[in-house]
Amino acid sequence: MIIAANLKTNLTRSATHKYIEELNSFAEESSQEVLVFPAMTSLDSFETKSITIGTQNAYPTQNGAFTGETGLEQLEEFGIKTILIGHSERRHILGESQEFLVEKFNYFKEKGFKIVFCVGEPQEIREAGKEAMLTYISKQYEGIDTEYANLIIAYEPVWAIGTGLTPTLEDIADIHAELKKKSSAPLLYGGSVKVNNAKDVLSVNNVDGVLVGSAALYVEHFSQMIQYADELSQIK
Ligand code: PGA
Repeated sequence: MIIAANLKTNLTRSATHKYIEELNSFAEESSQEVLVFPAMTSLDSFETKSITIGTQNAYPTQNGAFTGETGLEQLEEFGIKTILIGHSERRHILGESQEFLVEKFNYFKEKGFKIVFCVGEPQEIREAGKEAMLTYISKQYEGIDTEYANLIIAYEPVWAIGTGLTPTLEDIADIHAELKKKSSAPLLYGGSVKVNNAKDVLSVNNVDGVLVGSAALYVEHFSQMIQYADELSQIK
């Protein structure tokens, strides 16, 4: 399974180093694929064989005049080959359009990056029913190469991110079954995954892992989720 931590705009550079070091000792014992997305200023050449470090964002360029952005050249300095694209906070707070996300996707695909591509519906679309949800999410797949070998998809309902709310396990199973028809890429669930629901979520059919925000800030919580995945992998 894939157990991923999106640290967002949290932890300083030194706190991130400590975090990765502590997490690494758990990850070494595990057979899961562990991904960590630190804040941009915390990117570094971490000596961790058991954890893959990815970037939460980057601009589709080698380098150039893009004030405040990070290009391939800066990522290459730290050997970073994994990127999160389409996170709801970038879509909704930073206003990234589907068109721009496709441009980013294509650029980093061409560079051979592992891409965690996020999709998910806001509250009003969920309330409008399953058909509306599927139509909305389908648009987020438009222009994306769903057969890309290095693709991971994360289904993250916008209303569940950082709110403590989650869909029911039946709802997760239902939407994941639908999304698996669109792409055979590993499919993660994200949105208020906590220690107390992670094992149940990881047990759901077609859930290949989790993308965790707030709860991942506690290294012991995130490590516990890795352990759950190990336990479930033995059963599955
Ligand atoms: P959350 O965030 O776990 O805090 O809900 C998940 C995410 O944004 O990836």
